[in-house]
Amino acid sequence: MSSYIGRHAELYDIFYADKPYMDEAAFVHSCLQQCSIGATHRLLELACGTGSHALALEKFGYDIVATDYSNDMLACARRKATQVLSTVDFRWQDMRSLDLPGPPFDAVMCLFDSIGYVVTNEALVEVLQGVHRYLRPNGLFVLEFWHAGAMLHLYDPVRVRRYLTPDGLVLRISETTLECARQLSQVTYTIYELHNDGAYSSLQEMQVNRYFLVQEMAGWLSTCGFVPLKWFDGFAAKEHITEETWHVVAVARRQ
Ligand SMILES: C[S@@+](CC[C@H](N)C(=O)[O-])C[C@H]1O[C@@H](n2cnc3c(N)ncnc32)[C@H](O)[C@@H]1O
Repeated sequence: MSSYIGRHAELYDIFYADKPYMDEAAFVHSCLQQCSIGATHRLLELACGTGSHALALEKFGYDIVATDYSNDMLACARRKATQVLSTVDFRWQDMRSLDLPGPPFDAVMCLFDSIGYVVTNEALVEVLQGVHRYLRPNGLFVLEFWHAGAMLHLYDPVRVRRYLTPDGLVLRISETTLECARQLSQVTYTIYELHNDGAYSSLQEMQVNRYFLVQEMAGWLSTCGFVPLKWFDGFAAKEHITEETWHVVAVARRQ
């Protein structure tokens, strides 16, 4: 069972139209430049979604394989790639059981908290072992995760957002409950679309995501053969993580 199915995938870029993907890609590029040992040219992205980070990073000259397990998200990514004549290789992959051809990668990235869709310890280890297998020695892993510090005391049980589109109005209601012991949030998205011609449609999708603490993630990374190098408060050079940090960007080196 994947997430972002059907119309939900098609609406994804409307929901995140304000997300500064180009700036975030520039930050990832600067991390790779600063932390790399040896040349970094070939990148693998896990859970690439509609491909916005991969398409932005390609502009820095990387050769990129970008993967996801939602065929509907990949279809959006491939459509965008065609429009900009991109050569990013978008492929279906479940990050828990990577199976890719070709030589090892110089860097792997998994952004926008996608690692949180992997909710059990066993599956998390499968992902990290897979990343280790596909990275060259000293290759870098850039990982963004949802931070338990902010999640546990700042989360909104109900969020409502409105998006105006050329076709009409989209309303997204996100209802969240937390399961603290398993570090999980369950979010039910209810989405209503009111089209300019008066037509109306709705959909609902439930997603479960895990949140992590820094020392916990450091432990998982070390156990799976990585040396954590940096912990950033989002895509910014600030390395001070607080209980108000929602997204942690980690950079780790494969041993
Ligand atoms: C919040 S979206 C992030 C997408 C993209 N990284 C971005 O920054 O816009 C999470 C993505 O993770 C993907 N995903 C979740 N679990 C996955 C898995 N086990 N293997 C591959 N992709 C997965 C979903 O299909 C979705 O595209």
